Amino acid sequence: MSEPRPAVDASAPIGVFDSGVGGLTVLKALQARMPAERFVYLGDTARLPYGTKSARTVQRYAVQAAGQLVTRGVKALVVACNTASAVALVALREAYQPLPVFGVVDPGAAAAGRVSRSGRIGVLATESTVRGGAYQHAILNLRRNARVFARACPMLVTLAEDGWIDGDVPERIVSSYLGAFLHGGESIDTLLLGCTHFPILRDVLARVAGAGVTLVDSAETTAQHVATAIERTAGAALEPHAARLLLATDDRHRFARVGRYFLGEALAAEDIELIDL
Ligand code: DGL
Repeated sequence: MSEPRPAVDASAPIGVFDSGVGGLTVLKALQARMPAERFVYLGDTARLPYGTKSARTVQRYAVQAAGQLVTRGVKALVVACNTASAVALVALREAYQPLPVFGVVDPGAAAAGRVSRSGRIGVLATESTVRGGAYQHAILNLRRNARVFARACPMLVTLAEDGWIDGDVPERIVSSYLGAFLHGGESIDTLLLGCTHFPILRDVLARVAGAGVTLVDSAETTAQHVATAIERTAGAALEPHAARLLLATDDRHRFARVGRYFLGEALAAEDIELIDL
């Protein structure tokens, strides 16, 4: 017989975690999809970027950061960071079972596999995500004859962090990253944005990729997946709370200044609580 599941406190918040402010795109989608839920978002800004670090280091950081959310009584954890989803999901599930832990890789891979007509899919992500092969495996698991081409784009994280999201410089950098996808024989018809920071470069990515390439980002599909799973376990909030707490491990001012591009609403440094891990 299986162990009885502990009763879920439906009024508890959902924890959302990222290496920085990029995961606010996922928080935005979660809030829109589940307006009655409370959220606690943690951006580990002191240790960003995760995408250039080893899997072992990212696992250690992710378990520590999630621990902070767990002590705040979250009923589920959403790993908004693609790098942490790609390399630390198993470690997080083991560390905090039976807490439901959701990542962004599987929902993003499923969306890309669904929309691609030719099965030729490009993935843009961080070095660590590409090296681990999580997106490649997730897409091939769903669509065995797909051809997946993954490219690490660390400069796009820097551009997005600087708010340098349009004009000649981003366009040239994006063109260089997308070169082989478009003109080097890879001939993709779907481009998966496998990093929290890339949705705010969507306009320039779409322009360079051209009309024949469909862009997929995992924020929407992740939010849908999390909402369905939480409703299924009877853990959805019944009373509207719509409260939100934002935590950062460094520089509340920078978090507010850059974060508003990702969240799509004004933020003040006073809205953010500074914590130590
Ligand atoms: N959040 C990371 C990701 O989605 C990007 C920023 C970083 O490298 O920490 O992969």
